[in-house]
Amino acid sequence: MNQTEVTTAKEQKYTFPADFWWGTAASATQTEGAAFEGGKGPNIWDHWYEQEPNRFFDGVNATVASDFYYRYEEDIALMKELGHNSFRISISWSRLFPEGQGEMNPTAIDFYNRVIDELIAADIEPFVNLYHFDMPLALQNIGGWESRAVVTAYTEYAKTCFSLFGDRVSKWFTHNEPIVPVEGGYLYDFHYPNVVDFKRAVQVAYHSILSSALAIQAYKETEQTGEIGIILNLTPSYPRSQNAGDVKAAQVADVLFNRSFLDPSVLGTFPAELVDLLEQQGALPEVVQGDLELIAKNTVDLLGINYYQPRRIKVKEHLPHPDAPFMPEHLFDYYEMPGRKMNPYRGWEIYEKGIYDILTNLRENYGNIKCFVSENGMGVEGEERYRDEDGSVQDDYRIDFIASHLQWMHRALEEGSNVKGYHLWTFMDNWSWSNAYKNRYGFVGLDLATQKRTVKKSGHWFKQLIEEQGFTK
Ligand code: BG6
Repeated sequence: MNQTEVTTAKEQKYTFPADFWWGTAASATQTEGAAFEGGKGPNIWDHWYEQEPNRFFDGVNATVASDFYYRYEEDIALMKELGHNSFRISISWSRLFPEGQGEMNPTAIDFYNRVIDELIAADIEPFVNLYHFDMPLALQNIGGWESRAVVTAYTEYAKTCFSLFGDRVSKWFTHNEPIVPVEGGYLYDFHYPNVVDFKRAVQVAYHSILSSALAIQAYKETEQTGEIGIILNLTPSYPRSQNAGDVKAAQVADVLFNRSFLDPSVLGTFPAELVDLLEQQGALPEVVQGDLELIAKNTVDLLGINYYQPRRIKVKEHLPHPDAPFMPEHLFDYYEMPGRKMNPYRGWEIYEKGIYDILTNLRENYGNIKCFVSENGMGVEGEERYRDEDGSVQDDYRIDFIASHLQWMHRALEEGSNVKGYHLWTFMDNWSWSNAYKNRYGFVGLDLATQKRTVKKSGHWFKQLIEEQGFTK
C-alpha cells in the first residue's frame, strides 16, 4: 500500500494506493472552442471580449481554445495512452441552456453524451464540474450571482445535468474555485462584470455557496449513488513571524480566502470570525429564512483541492485612508518572504509543503473529509524553447514540480490523510482567462497554428508513474 521503500541510500520509492485517481483537469471555456457553434449561447467571456478585446492577453479569446469540441476523440485516446484513469471536464452552462434557463440545446446534450461515453469506453472516469467561471450572458444580464433568480436557474441546470448524465457520471462538482469569480468580477477587476465593491462581492460569494448546497440537495434527492463535492483553491496563509500582529493578519486572510468557502462546504457553518468581520463592515449578505439550515444539511461528500501557491502575510503597516471603500487588504499586507522559491516562468511561489499543510488541516479540523488534489501545476511562459527536434517539450522542471508535491502528499497519506487522487492542471496547453496561451501547463503541448498535439517529457513520466503506482526520487 502506501509504503516508502528505500531504494538507494538517498532515493526512495513513493508508492500510492492501487485505486488512486490519476489524471488531469480542464474546463469547457478553456478547451472546447466552438464558442459560437452548435447552438451555444453567449457567456460572459464571449461578451466581455466583444466589449473590451484589449483586456485579453494578446487580444486572443476562447473561440477556438484547444478545439476539444471537434477533437475530443483524439484527445481522449491520448489520455488513455498516457494512462489516465480519470479526467475532469466542465459543462458549459450556456451550451446546454443558451439563455441559462428555459429551452435546452439538443446538440449540447449530444456532445456531452458523446464525451462522457468516449471517456468511459477508454476506462477514464469522467469527473464533471457544473460551473467554471462561465455565467451565461442572459443570466448575467439579470444580475449574475448577485441575483437569487440565478441561484434558482443554476439549481435547475444542475438537476438537468444529473438527470441527463447521472446514469454514467458518479463524481460531480458544483463549482470550481467559486472565490475566483468573486475576486475577479467584484473585487479586483479581472473578470466581467468588473465591479469593485466588497458588499456586492459578499452577496455573490454567499449565493455561490447557497447554490452549491441546493445542487447537493437536488443530487441527494435523485436515486443516484455517486458523490458530489466542490473544488476550492486553497491558499495556506503563513504569517511573516509569530508576533501577534502577523499571526492575526494571517488568520484574517485565511478566514476570508479559505474558510469562507471551506467551512460552509465541509462543516455546513460559516466561521464566527467571518460573520463578525462582515457585520463590522456592514456587508452581511441577504439571507432568506431556511438558507442556513439548508447549507448546514447539504455539505460535500468529496472535496477537490486546487493548490498552486501559499499566501505570505504580515500585519498591516500603513492603514488605508478612513474614507477608502473597504477591501480585504485593509486588514493585512502581503509579504515577499526572502529566499522563497519562485517559478521563474510564471512568478508564482512554489511551496510544495503547502499541500501537506492543507491535507493535515483537513484531517485535523475538517473530519478528514474525503478529498483529492483537483489541480496543481506549473505554468511556463515561452515553453517552446524547451522543445527537442521532434517537437516534444523537455520539461524536467515540471516533473520535478509534480514529484516534489507528490512527496508531500505521500507523507500526508502515510499520516492518515483521506486523499484519493491527483489531477494536474492540465491535460493539454490551453487558453486561460487572463493570459490566453502565455503560460503553458499541459502534459501535452499544443501548436496553436496547426492544433498539433505533442506529448511532453512530463506526460511520458506521468504515464510511467501511473503504471508503477508511484515514482522514485
Ligand atoms: C488556475 C485556474 O487557478 O489557474 C485555471 O483554475 C487557470 O482555470 C490556471 O487556467 C492558470 O492561469 P494562468 O493565468 O497562469 O494562465
